[in-house]
Amino acid sequence: MSTDIDRDANDLEALLAVTNTDADELLHSVTDNADAIFTWDYEKGRRPQLNTLYEKAKRSQWNAETDLDWSIEVDQEQLAREQGVMGADILGMLGVDLKGTPMAKWTEQDWVTFQIESQNWILSQFMHGEQGALVCTAKIVETVPWIDAKYYAATQVMDEARHVEVFAKYLDTKMNGHYPINAHLKMLLDDIIADSRWDMTYLGMQIMVEGLALASFGFAHQTTTEPLFKKLLRYVMADEARHVAFGVLSLREYYRDLSDAELKDRQEFAFEAAIRMRDRFLQQEVWERLGVDVRQAIRVFDVVDKDNDPFQQLLFSKIVPNLSKLGLLDANDGWLRKRFDTIGVLQFETEADTGENYLEFDIASELAANKQAESA
Ligand SMILES: [Fe+2]
Ligand SMILES: [Fe+2]
Repeated sequence: MSTDIDRDANDLEALLAVTNTDADELLHSVTDNADAIFTWDYEKGRRPQLNTLYEKAKRSQWNAETDLDWSIEVDQEQLAREQGVMGADILGMLGVDLKGTPMAKWTEQDWVTFQIESQNWILSQFMHGEQGALVCTAKIVETVPWIDAKYYAATQVMDEARHVEVFAKYLDTKMNGHYPINAHLKMLLDDIIADSRWDMTYLGMQIMVEGLALASFGFAHQTTTEPLFKKLLRYVMADEARHVAFGVLSLREYYRDLSDAELKDRQEFAFEAAIRMRDRFLQQEVWERLGVDVRQAIRVFDVVDKDNDPFQQLLFSKIVPNLSKLGLLDANDGWLRKRFDTIGVLQFETEADTGENYLEFDIASELAANKQAESA
């Protein structure tokens, strides 16, 4: 199957041309083009579902320092081996041919190192993405015109601070090295922050980035055997599920009154973000650190057909039902539906949208039990 997003050699060059121009920069500034909005309508609960979510968020706050057991020791090498070390034979079954590459000569220990570096890279990107969410939600507090949404967004700011905190602490104390932000993730976050329309912060962050994060955290949660990381992910997911619900509840109301042309802008933005997240967040920084030519490595691994790869598709399992609920699949004669069909992700359309199923992730009763145990 051929789609307009197939990557050829030129695409690969364009993709690699985007690099972090200053990987050592300590501060990065983006112009935030939005107006800060005051509302004088303080009626709490005018939007009952947002109000319910706000009350729920207040009861579900956890403390990264005391609700997680940081005394657990983590042996990254042992974990990599437990999860199965990659190698030429497994890759061969997936159609990856290492002939003529440095990886053809890698020993088992080299593959273990690669897996550890990959983990460091992924967790670092989670951490950077969480900071993106922190900044975006602070922006939503300013720009959203409804008091119930401002209240809710304020709780999310606290949640995201906690998420940055836990990922940074886990990287610092249980793993061995941060990676800088991937250049494409950085550009996506910059675009979301720079947009002047308040709903675009929601669409980019709450629906797209957090939808993808919820699916990735869910996958990591299922596969990890490390108890601290497992619990950390479960707690983070409990918050993330609310965040995505916040996006769905807010935008559903707002998108009802938009024109076709305005909806088309949102559809294009959503599709572009989906493809960016799927195809451009490559671990190029890992290859560089391991001294492997990035072009060679990416070409070798790029044989997997992303349009038919169940793992790639799974990344969309939370995004598609939510976009459907917002009316974005069907607006403009199904413009977005047709595009999602070409990349093989429409099967998720009928899954429960996160506006409804966030309660599945609830940890409030567990937190209450923790507190009781502490005071007993
Ligand atoms: Fe988060
Ligand atoms: Fe979040």
